[in-house]
Amino acid sequence: MSAVRENGVIVAIDGPSGAGKSSLTKLLAKRLGYIHIDTGAMFRAVALSAQRAGIKSDDDAGLAELCRGLEIAFARDGETCRVLANGEDVSAEIRTEEIGLLTSTISARKPVRQALLEMQRKMGAKGGVILEGRDIGTVVFPDAEVKFFLSASAEERGRRRYLELAARGESATLEETIAKVIQRDRQDEGREHAPLKQAEDAVPIDSTSLTIEQVLELMERTVKERLAQGEKG
Ligand code: DC
Repeated sequence: MSAVRENGVIVAIDGPSGAGKSSLTKLLAKRLGYIHIDTGAMFRAVALSAQRAGIKSDDDAGLAELCRGLEIAFARDGETCRVLANGEDVSAEIRTEEIGLLTSTISARKPVRQALLEMQRKMGAKGGVILEGRDIGTVVFPDAEVKFFLSASAEERGRRRYLELAARGESATLEETIAKVIQRDRQDEGREHAPLKQAEDAVPIDSTSLTIEQVLELMERTVKERLAQGEKG
């Protein structure tokens, strides 16, 4: 076992949408005193910027150009973390269903993946970081010291998403929401570049019938064991 990096280990949390990655990443980062990086928010910021600029999702040259001129940053604001695209706070706008579906299409394009891969590697290289996404343990940091693959049934993920939308006052039916979850899974799993799949050395966690606290405990224990091994190594 190799010793850990400058600021600690790299923790990769991959899995489909609605499995609880965002909440767990934030909570685990707080417990460990680590930085958390929501890579989905980065892809969403690209999709929003492309939509605003009128760049079509199959225009690879246009997307490459857009990414070259786009600076994505995270800014802590008390308990929340804001997403900035060229300095503008886009945290709310990137969370709509429309941008979610567009992101699933745009994130399949090679120039977009390449641009964000480089940004994510720079952000995480020193360790002490938790990255959540779809391809962190397989492509971005295949050498991450700890990898989790967090999933839950499509019905449960659709139900969680539906409750989130209802709390925000957005109208949708439960059936529609589950159907969108399934559609997004297909797109994310079926794409050519960096598809959603479990890394061979990832710890699989099915959160369908677990509480957030139970998953959090399991994750924290796994990371601490790895850190203890690193100190010995
Ligand atoms: O996690 P999320 O729902 O915010 O992700 C939005 C979309 O971005 C999702 O359809 C998959 C894509 N994505 C990706 O392709 N790779 C990542 N590392 C993170 C997200």
